[in-house]
Amino acid sequence: MTGSVRHFLDLDQLDGATLRLILDRGLAMKRSREAAGKPLAGRTLALIFEKPSTRTRVSFEVGMRQLGGDVVVLESQGSQLGRGETVADTARVLSRYVDAIMIRTDSVSKLTELAEHGSVPVINGLTDRSHPCQVMADVMTFEEHRGPIKGRVVAWSGDGNNVANSWIHAAARFGFTLRLACPEALKPPQALLDWANASGGAVSFADSPQAAVAGADCVVTDTWVSMNHLDRSERINLLTPYRVDERLMAGARPDAVFMHCLPAHRGEEVTDAVIDGARSVVWDEAENRLHIQKAILTWCLID
Ligand code: CP
Ligand code: NVA
Repeated sequence: MTGSVRHFLDLDQLDGATLRLILDRGLAMKRSREAAGKPLAGRTLALIFEKPSTRTRVSFEVGMRQLGGDVVVLESQGSQLGRGETVADTARVLSRYVDAIMIRTDSVSKLTELAEHGSVPVINGLTDRSHPCQVMADVMTFEEHRGPIKGRVVAWSGDGNNVANSWIHAAARFGFTLRLACPEALKPPQALLDWANASGGAVSFADSPQAAVAGADCVVTDTWVSMNHLDRSERINLLTPYRVDERLMAGARPDAVFMHCLPAHRGEEVTDAVIDGARSVVWDEAENRLHIQKAILTWCLID
């Protein structure tokens, strides 16, 4: 059931004003935990995990508790989902117990099925296609360090994966330039770039990582082997030229920040010198998952 229920499924499904409201609320919640109060007292969030997680699990659990609410965690292997109960039936049942559902799943169709058949808000905690909570935290982190992201230049070097897709959505919604350097076989779909460019973004493929980062305000990468990937050695061969090292960072603006959603595979997509360097803001990104998700939860459940 969708109707008037407020889902947080993907950044392309929400307008820029809504995302800005959520982002500003995340910043306010970070400034004062006390001012946020306990608006979710008596509410329960279900967290469904079909894939591993550290940040998403802990930040949603802690965030919900800070807002006065409670959580229940389901791992697919420990629930009937893992034995073949349909997502639609699970959605109908969980909607009788909880006030919202967050899901991390291997298939975007399960996310939409949950939203269609449940009657409570559904939040995307990562699919093979996107990771919207992460990129909201990333935009918040950029703005904390460097001011408004509108009109600025973000460079992506690496796999054109789920996180890259959400960055493309964000470029359209927040109005920034995104240059993607990805191996030909691992590029996000051209149709996604066409959508972004028709929707307020300026998203393009660069010919090389060096061309992508030239003069950029922010350099981003992610693991070369995501949780849904089986072809590890092939990917490593393709992606080695896209590693973010100090030489690549030197091509960005001197005040450019380095971002990575984590977990990082040090020595693969990023060197220790970059991730541990002065321009890295990866720990702030991780912290901001907590604050932005509190804002998302209140938007879904109270507004
Ligand atoms: N960045 C992120 O989503 O981390 P986890 O996989 O630990 O949740
Ligand atoms: N692209 C990574 C992100 C992990 C948070 C994955 O899907 O495994």
